[in-house]
Amino acid sequence: MTIVVSLPAEDKTEWWCQMLRDLLPDWRVYPIDKVTDPDAVTYAVVWRPATGAMRSFRNLKAIVSVGAGIDHVLADEQLPLHVPIIRTVGTDLTQRMKEYVALHVLRHHREMPRIEANQARQQWEQIVVPPATQRRVGVMGLGNLGAAAADLLKQIGFEVHGWSRSQKQLQGIKCCAGDEGLRAFLDGTEILVCLLPLTESTRGILNADTFNRLKPGASVINAARGPHLVESDLVEALDSGQIAGATLDVFPVEPLPRSHPFWTNPKITITPHVASLIDAPTGSKIVARNIKTFEETGTVTDIADAKRGY
Ligand SMILES: NC(=O)c1ccc[n+]([C@@H]2O[C@H](COP(=O)([O-])OP(=O)(O)OC[C@H]3O[C@@H](n4cnc5c(N)ncnc54)[C@H](OP(=O)(O)O)[C@@H]3O)[C@@H](O)[C@H]2O)c1
Repeated sequence: MTIVVSLPAEDKTEWWCQMLRDLLPDWRVYPIDKVTDPDAVTYAVVWRPATGAMRSFRNLKAIVSVGAGIDHVLADEQLPLHVPIIRTVGTDLTQRMKEYVALHVLRHHREMPRIEANQARQQWEQIVVPPATQRRVGVMGLGNLGAAAADLLKQIGFEVHGWSRSQKQLQGIKCCAGDEGLRAFLDGTEILVCLLPLTESTRGILNADTFNRLKPGASVINAARGPHLVESDLVEALDSGQIAGATLDVFPVEPLPRSHPFWTNPKITITPHVASLIDAPTGSKIVARNIKTFEETGTVTDIADAKRGY
């Protein structure tokens, strides 16, 4: 029983290997570049594995994504698609995302970017904003993270609408589904939160058509994946005022290059992919538990559907 760990940072890989060895003392755990017998490898714990890396392990039983998304695994064109992909999700991850979404929705709702800009000019301007009950927030994606964030926003008092692929029934949240429900969901939304997985159907979904459906002066928060956003469409919408401000946590290239114009756009708040980072001590426990359960039973609850893309 051998686990291979493949993470972009060498120190993180070492750390994860040690943690998994402590949690699974009967298993052999190696960083990917230290594997001498690829046929012995049965589980791969990965974040953005190199193209073709998984194919070299012919006896893989499962690939474990160190995170909720699996787009970084599916990006490998040579991925052995018959191997199940296990997502790493849990209450800590959900809690962190709820905090992030609440923080940034409230920030836009209470016009904090304008107040901060006023402070820089030593300008005293009292802005009266409507109460949350009169502010419509739309959450795209009602999975683990989206449903939890939508529920918290509802508890704060916002009028919350949600959108997913299949129809949901969530108390106090107006749910729309599928392509046919998208228009009704977007029309009149004032703060749009993206918590969709990145798939071929959702790539570029934050585009001019979407922005033009929102209430003029709306705000956009993308805490999902960078390629959900068409960057030039956002810049145009910000310039025209159709979108008043955006908070972006994720980017097609991370770290966001220093030369990227988003850094200096006063209408954009950038956070460095921190909305909901998995913390290694908790994450490794979830990963170890999932591997153990999969080995014993042949399944776990958090298996992604590679065909569906999430
Ligand atoms: N920024 C960060 O720090 C961070 C951290 C963790 C995760 N993320 C991102 O957040 C994403 C969501 O995570 P999750 O755990 O909530 O995912 P999830 O449980 O798989 O939920 C995905 C949701 O999106 C909906 N969806 C998928 N494709 C759709 C489509 N074409 N049209 C409409 N709705 C669609 C699904 O609909 P159904 O319910 O009908 O299937 C589901 O409600 C991850 O994939 C990852 O990219 C970011």
